[in-house]
Amino acid sequence: MGPGESTVGASAWATLQAEIERCVRCPLHATRQRVVVYRGSASPLVLFVGEAPGAAEDAAGRPFVGRAGQRLDRAVAALGLSAAEYGMLNLIKCRPPANRYSPIAAARCRPFLDRQLELLRPPIVVPLGRHALRAFDPSAPPISQAAGRPRRVGGTTLFPLIHPAAVRSHATRERWEHDLERFGRWLAARRWTRRPSQRI
Ligand code: URA
Repeated sequence: MGPGESTVGASAWATLQAEIERCVRCPLHATRQRVVVYRGSASPLVLFVGEAPGAAEDAAGRPFVGRAGQRLDRAVAALGLSAAEYGMLNLIKCRPPANRYSPIAAARCRPFLDRQLELLRPPIVVPLGRHALRAFDPSAPPISQAAGRPRRVGGTTLFPLIHPAAVRSHATRERWEHDLERFGRWLAARRWTRRPSQRI
């Protein structure tokens, strides 16, 4: 069963997934190998949102399975998130040639993202990098300022982080680790205060 808490939710998810996989709304369908829809829990506490699939994701049909994904998986393990507690997806579902971000593809994919969010209903969204942040909060400051701090936007709780693929230098690695620690502390405090049956 795919994401969706009930049979109805699961079948809505299956319908949505099939629709995304058939999509020809933008030119990226012509160059993709696989459509990359989602990986993770049917009911994630934390939803990580990236930009677009890279070569490894395009080949596998799953988000965040390449180098950036390995860094993200290590972060998920460090945060102590169980498999039932997180999910990963991208703004854009097909690989842009040369991994260049495509605003047109993002706009065409947006209704899919919105429907995924409606079905997954994640209490916490972690936009990775500036494009994902802007997709949730168009008036957000640059990612270098916003990363590592929670923000509420229209009923959604965001905790932006720099994109794991941007972690290339010593300075960006320190920033990534620092922001992850902040996220871990913030998350632990929220989990501590919620009732067992209550979603954050
Ligand atoms: N970068 C992203 O933004 N998403 C992926 O799935 C892989 C790399």
